[in-house]
Amino acid sequence: MQDPFRLDGRTVVVTGASRGIGAELARCIASQGGSVVLVARTANAIDALSAELPTESAVVVGDVADSEVAARAVEAATEIGELWGLVNNAGINPYYHPLLDTPLSEWDEVLQVNLLGAAAFARAVARALVDQSTGGRIINIGSIAGLTGLPNIGPYNASKAALDAMTRTLAVELGPHGILVNSVAPGTISTDMVDELLEANPALRERLVAKTPIGRVAETPEAVWPIVFLLSDAASFVTGQVLVADGGRLAAG
Ligand SMILES: NC(=O)c1ccc[n+]([C@@H]2O[C@H](COP(=O)([O-])OP(=O)(O)OC[C@H]3O[C@@H](n4cnc5c(N)ncnc54)[C@H](OP(=O)(O)O)[C@@H]3O)[C@@H](O)[C@H]2O)c1
Repeated sequence: MQDPFRLDGRTVVVTGASRGIGAELARCIASQGGSVVLVARTANAIDALSAELPTESAVVVGDVADSEVAARAVEAATEIGELWGLVNNAGINPYYHPLLDTPLSEWDEVLQVNLLGAAAFARAVARALVDQSTGGRIINIGSIAGLTGLPNIGPYNASKAALDAMTRTLAVELGPHGILVNSVAPGTISTDMVDELLEANPALRERLVAKTPIGRVAETPEAVWPIVFLLSDAASFVTGQVLVADGGRLAAG
């Protein structure tokens, strides 16, 4: 029997691939035989990652909020081979204060990247997949922040909840084309985004760990393998879902 988790011959666009979850995801896709289009603003990081990967890869330097970047990523994928999927992973969470103190400019900045950037990439990739008539996958990286009311990161929470809503709509609209669309909602994963916040707030780290039944922050691969599963044939009847990888945090209430 063929291994249903392999991604041989499949090309996946990964946004936010310069570090953290996106970079590790690119390594794991390549380890399963897939090719990767690496998208981020930091050219030297994705160039170095591209050189390290064992399968074919391409580099697209740009801001996901610029819709021309999505078109360039699709073009780069089709130059490698047949496009198979997209992981909308690029995201920012730069502010930490109550909504009452949040200027609309901060809402705008977070939504431009986390939501509108993801919408532009999903549209560009979905159009290409529909044209190819091959089916495919779109995975949006949400967060448990989109499923709860975590304080002090209101625009981030809203952006992630909206991504889950977009996932469900796309799953319904694209299902007849064989394109499966899901979200992954990680809990707290040790990456630059989180480590900086937790180093500045040791009490917050203690609170987060205390609320997590598994009793720790996750390592990056623990957020990545559920994404690889959703990209693979092992998930061929899963669509419109939010896969929560949070060490039991939401289950604990
Ligand atoms: N870490 C966690 O605990 C956690 C939990 C739940 C959800 N998530 C989600 O998982 C995703 C990855 O998070 P992470 O922890 O790996 O974050 P990270 O270490 O801060 O990495 C973020 C990635 O997004 C890219 N990026 C940011 N803004 C961009 C833009 N405007 N255009 C293109 N690329 C952009 C960054 O690349 P450049 O700066 O080079 O552009 C970087 O590669 C995010 O969507 C985040 O919300 C993370």
